[in-house]
Amino acid sequence: MKTQVAIIGAGPSGLLLGQLLHNAGISNVILERQGPDYVLGRIRAGVLEQGMVELLREAGVGQRMDAEGLPHAGFELAFDGRREHIDLKGLTGGQGVMIYGQTEVTRDLMAARADSGATTVYHAENVRPHDMKTGQPYVTYEKDGQQHRLDCDYIAGCDGYHGVARQSIPSEALQVFERVYPFGWLGILADTPPVSDELVYARHERGFALCSMRSPTRTRYYVQVPAEEKVEDWSDERFWEELKSRLPDELAERLVTGPSIEKSIAPLRSFVVEPMQYGRLFLVGDAAHIVPPTGAKGLNLAASDVSTLYNILRKVYAEGRTDLLERYSAICLRRIWKAERFSWWMTSMLHRFPDSDAFSQRIQHTELDYFVGSEAGRRTLAENYVGLPYEPIEDA
Ligand code: APR
Ligand code: PHB
Repeated sequence: MKTQVAIIGAGPSGLLLGQLLHNAGISNVILERQGPDYVLGRIRAGVLEQGMVELLREAGVGQRMDAEGLPHAGFELAFDGRREHIDLKGLTGGQGVMIYGQTEVTRDLMAARADSGATTVYHAENVRPHDMKTGQPYVTYEKDGQQHRLDCDYIAGCDGYHGVARQSIPSEALQVFERVYPFGWLGILADTPPVSDELVYARHERGFALCSMRSPTRTRYYVQVPAEEKVEDWSDERFWEELKSRLPDELAERLVTGPSIEKSIAPLRSFVVEPMQYGRLFLVGDAAHIVPPTGAKGLNLAASDVSTLYNILRKVYAEGRTDLLERYSAICLRRIWKAERFSWWMTSMLHRFPDSDAFSQRIQHTELDYFVGSEAGRRTLAENYVGLPYEPIEDA
């Protein structure tokens, strides 16, 4: 088989890149280790920045998001029994975010890909990129016991944190930056009405909590738990009690509880590799970087990487601008590091750290109190939360 761009991974990064390239007349094949149901079964992020919303529309997959997504013009920070509203719209000159689950984004992208007739190979085993440093890279994989070879011009590694793309790059060619936090998030999905119209990020001495949603009838709530915690030890009742204990009274009193549809623990990690390119292999999304979920940036960073690679490849194929390829990594990393900083900062400000002394706790509290009490502080929170602008691929 032969294609212009071989894409490894059919998560949001791979599917969105594939759709944009296909619409631009650039052929691509996606190789995915799992089946479509597995990919759709993962409950992940739910907050889309304006830039991602526009990119999905540009890819022609924005209809259901525009009909069913919930535009949010603000969010809330709760601490000391206080509830502080951050007016995203007012503080950023009219920007906001869209609440629309990653599962739904993925579903829409899968449907568009099926309509387009482009090839996606699910259950592709033992996927391996080869000859990335030459002009003729290729990818091998196994399917139904048969060995296959996919020849291509470029390879996009959209295969997530545990994928093969990053691991195929010699370790001496990569620099790794990492921080692992001593806690995780226990999350549940439930068919209950949201406790508030907006998302609530709560700092409490028992630990962080987040009230999010997927629709007016479906909620996604989280509580901070120690890293070694087991999900089996958390009955629904225990979860609801713990969540209530961390919310201001007026929210706790009106919280509607119900049986969980899904319950899982996610570890928190900050991770970046540099560079994000090795010859003709490009790393995209979670394959290159992870953020703790506190800033709602993981999925949005995947979208900005996709936008950058897509815009470069378009110019490569339309105008022969191969000089742009080597800029990919630096362009992406500028925006990535700013989102890494914001996610680390929100995590540091809102969570309880097991080793923090009394001084650190006062500073942490004061940081939150200062930022919500100052117009400049609120604006800083808001401009990062709605998402910093996408970096141009060339100077204007
Ligand atoms: N071969 C083929 N496919 C693979 C391989 C492999 N060796 N390893 C992983 N994959 C597939 C996974 O099964 C998955 O479907 O690659 C896909 C990667 O998808 P994600 O992990 O979702 O990564 P990405 O598409 O970059 O999505 C961005 O943002 O909100 C965050 O972490 C969240 O998933 C989200 C991410
Ligand atoms: C979610 O809805 O899953 C969600 C929302 C905001 C975050 C993280 C997760 O910061």
